[in-house]
Amino acid sequence: MSASNLGQLLARSLAITLFAAVARVPALALLLPAARLRRLVATAGLADLKYGGIFTRSSYTPWKGDADFRRVFAVVRANTLVDEYRCHELWQLCGQLGALEPGDILEVGVWRGGTGCLMARRCRDLGAGGRVHLCDTFAGVVKAGGQDSAYVGGEHADTSTAVVRDLAQNLSLDNVDIRPGMFPDDTGAAIADRRFRLCHIDVDVYESAAQTFDWIWPRLVPGGIVVFDDYGFYSCSGVTRLVDRMRGEPDRLVVYNVNGHALVIKRPPAPA
Ligand SMILES: C[S@@+](CC[C@H](N)C(=O)[O-])C[C@H]1O[C@@H](n2cnc3c(N)ncnc32)[C@H](O)[C@@H]1O
Repeated sequence: MSASNLGQLLARSLAITLFAAVARVPALALLLPAARLRRLVATAGLADLKYGGIFTRSSYTPWKGDADFRRVFAVVRANTLVDEYRCHELWQLCGQLGALEPGDILEVGVWRGGTGCLMARRCRDLGAGGRVHLCDTFAGVVKAGGQDSAYVGGEHADTSTAVVRDLAQNLSLDNVDIRPGMFPDDTGAAIADRRFRLCHIDVDVYESAAQTFDWIWPRLVPGGIVVFDDYGFYSCSGVTRLVDRMRGEPDRLVVYNVNGHALVIKRPPAPA
């Protein structure tokens, strides 16, 4: 862990402890001047979601020894908000999709194209068929609401389709389709007849994540994977709550990866 990572971890743990202390005194929380601060404090008081510093005993770092990944990650790094742990997980998942029925990849929440192009490059290198659909408003987060702890809408608007196109060209990708617009409202219909092996949902807020999941689930092949980014992040409580509500459904496995990902894997139908 770098000094910067350690600093962030300590600052986050301290902030959550302070938020929790203020949340215990509702009269004090009401005095906070900024609405965002009030929401962050309210998150610390939620009965169904508990937050705190996480210190894991694991010290295996496969992303460091994976030369192919490192080469591509160096190219996408400036175009992604996603750290190398989660990027390497996407990279490894794409490397295992060959065992599934044919299908495409969907990413909703592309921003400047980092994770989407990383996945597309992995699939291209492996000769996997199928397209990688990169869906984003390119005008920032939408559909923020009462389930969300920090997002209000409009965040991450500092991008464009041209930025993503340039990255795709830089990586010599011929398997990506950039689809600007709100998903699924504006761009779902164009790919509604496709089948998918993997869907990366990185939209920060409950409603967009829920609508994307409902759209992709019937189109996912057996064994197909939905990767939720933002799961467990303090600023994205809506996404955590959405995934937690799926636990116990008989048609899926739900996995919390501690790194900020949750995986929802579609179980093959039980033999008759
Ligand atoms: C955190 S960014 C994505 C980060 C990106 N995966 C990366 O590699 O850094 C979240 C993105 O989700 C997009 N977004 C949120 N809800 C959406 C929706 N319903 N349809 C399309 N884009 C959406 C926003 O425009 C924003 O660019």
